[in-house]
Amino acid sequence: MRDRYAIIGNPVMHSKSPRIHAEFARATGQDLEYGRIEAPLDAFERAADEFRSQGGKGLNVTLPFKEAAFRYCDRVSGRARAAQAVNTLVFGNDVFGDTTDGVGLVTDLTRNLNVLLSAKQVLLMGAGGAAQGVVQALLDAGVARLAIANRTLSRAEALAARFSGVTSCSYEGLAGHEFDVVVNATSAGLRNDAPVLPASVLKRGALAYDMVYGRDTPFLAAARAAGARACDGLGMLVEQAAESFLLWRGVRPETHSVLERLRAG
Ligand code: ATR
Repeated sequence: MRDRYAIIGNPVMHSKSPRIHAEFARATGQDLEYGRIEAPLDAFERAADEFRSQGGKGLNVTLPFKEAAFRYCDRVSGRARAAQAVNTLVFGNDVFGDTTDGVGLVTDLTRNLNVLLSAKQVLLMGAGGAAQGVVQALLDAGVARLAIANRTLSRAEALAARFSGVTSCSYEGLAGHEFDVVVNATSAGLRNDAPVLPASVLKRGALAYDMVYGRDTPFLAAARAAGARACDGLGMLVEQAAESFLLWRGVRPETHSVLERLRAG
């Protein structure tokens, strides 16, 4: 029987992960199957147990189950513990959980978009699961400064307090501050909305990055109109998938051509 993997989430029907992993499998000559599981909102554990009992080797986990997946694990990586979330489950004798979202973002920024993060002033917008998953990786990349801004200030404060050297503020509180890289980790773009940023925030030539992919969000459109370079999160999606593939199969697939084909539609 071929080794089986899947993406679990809700909703999950539009996920590009099955296509990405099928391309990785073909390119690396690996014989595996990768499906989709839409679990009921209150039944992540049951769905994961069932997949595992049928011989499933691993799962990618997406919204809204990343925290539930963290609790489901017998063992987790240091970066999963820092994020308190898991996007990759590895089923062996026990359940191991890791998160590849942060390294996926950093790889996209540095390798695909040629951003030298070590010298950069970085603003992270949002303080939910998507933001939590990338803070440690941005710090590990050696950013010169990391600030977290959120609509609900207390959430930004609580997230920043978990890491040393990270500051927090409201969007209005950003007035007069400027950044080289602004990462939108809010879900506002999914509802065609965007946090309102003071005009000063994007430095000339800044990169505006939205973790949402496949659409021109109001954040990206506004940033482009202000002269910034704008990029969606498709590269992060592909890079985090490559890291999951590495955890499962011991080989990291080449991502450039997969990303190009996805962008082509
Ligand atoms: P996720 O796991 O996708 O991050 P979440 O935990 O619900 O989901 O967090 C969503 C994030 O998007 C939060 O930072 C949220 O801000 P609040 O903490 O103030 O709710 C942010 N967000 C969602 N819609 C937004 C909007 N229209 N404007 C600004 N921020 C928004």
